[in-house]
Amino acid sequence: MAVSRDDVIRALGAVPAPEGRGSLADSPQVSEIVIQDGRVSFAILTTPEKASSLETIRSAAEAAVKAVPGVTDALVALTADRPQGAPKAPPAAGPAKAPAPLNVRYIMAVASGKGGVGKSTTAANLALALSAKGLRVGVLDADVYGPSMPLLFGVRTKPKSDGKTIEPIEAYGLKIMSIGFLIEADTAMVWRGPMVMSAITQMLRDVVWGDLDVLVVDMPPGTGDAQLTMAQQVRLAGSVIVSTPQDIALADARRGVAMFRKVDVPILGVVENMSYFCCPNCGHRTELFGHGGAAEEAERLGVRFLGEIPLHARIREMSDAGTPIFATEPDGEYAAAYSAIADKVWTALEAGSGQRPAPRIIVG
Ligand SMILES: Nc1ncnc2c1ncn2[C@@H]1O[C@H](COP(=O)(O)OP(=O)(O)O)[C@@H](O)[C@H]1O
Ligand SMILES: [Mg+2]
Repeated sequence: MAVSRDDVIRALGAVPAPEGRGSLADSPQVSEIVIQDGRVSFAILTTPEKASSLETIRSAAEAAVKAVPGVTDALVALTADRPQGAPKAPPAAGPAKAPAPLNVRYIMAVASGKGGVGKSTTAANLALALSAKGLRVGVLDADVYGPSMPLLFGVRTKPKSDGKTIEPIEAYGLKIMSIGFLIEADTAMVWRGPMVMSAITQMLRDVVWGDLDVLVVDMPPGTGDAQLTMAQQVRLAGSVIVSTPQDIALADARRGVAMFRKVDVPILGVVENMSYFCCPNCGHRTELFGHGGAAEEAERLGVRFLGEIPLHARIREMSDAGTPIFATEPDGEYAAAYSAIADKVWTALEAGSGQRPAPRIIVG
């Protein structure tokens, strides 16, 4: 059964708008509603300060839309993209466009519930590890607010463009695109939702990726514009969730897991980063935060455990120097750790076997 916009709006009539201002059906805070087959997605626009208080409304909206006959999936994101009361911006990404004409076998997201867990570091080194297996690998930096790839790969050149298409930067055998190549680092911070969407859409559509086996997408943390855009624009083969062993990070990773399950993206598995500490002097291994937490948690959630990366200054130093550890020490123990993870990731991609939702996850 084809779902119409009116069906969705009608369902939103039962969901109260923020601050008791009527319902979401006629709320100016609801963005363009995108319907693709049975998948419905839209954003509730808010301010960063108010975002957390809107979680109840967000999930109620999702539940209401999911209950509409014909809807197979619903994704509602909270996005802080304009001052309240300002005129509604047109959706930069545009509704229901055809999928990006990418000649990429697998688009794989690297995600986490929160920042600072080493997602970008993992994405960069994982991309190198996949490339070392002889695969053609691209890296898309979807963290438009805080792009990391220029620093991680030491790229200071601007990509070539003919005004229509953009050449990705080639470094370490990878094709890389980041908004950070195009604009100054501090400009990125003032970008807002619709621009995030159009930036990511452009990086998917207008970049001459060529033929790739894998496009590794470094996602910003959380659930927002970038996640929404990716969900609307491309079919993700799966996601790798990066987590640190601390309980709090695991709770956030759990949110990430729940999010990807919601949009029906297979979860390839969980990587435990900063897993243990090896003393550079004596080689003694210290379990910093109760090692094994991520492995246990992954098992409990029914998600594959992909492996662990130790916490080591070398990894950070090489990242800061723009010469990723995998490239500088390809025979070292850290490269081996990334390589083992890359093997599992590739196997999972090839098997098309990101694990499907098994247990229902309740996220507090
Ligand atoms: N395994 C690791 N060992 C040591 N430092 C790490 C490791 N992984 C990441 N880091 C450092 O932690 C910081 C955050 O990593 P980053 O990849 O930028 O995280 P995220 O993308 O999740 O915000 C960076 O300074 C990075 O160099
Ligand atoms: Mg990052």
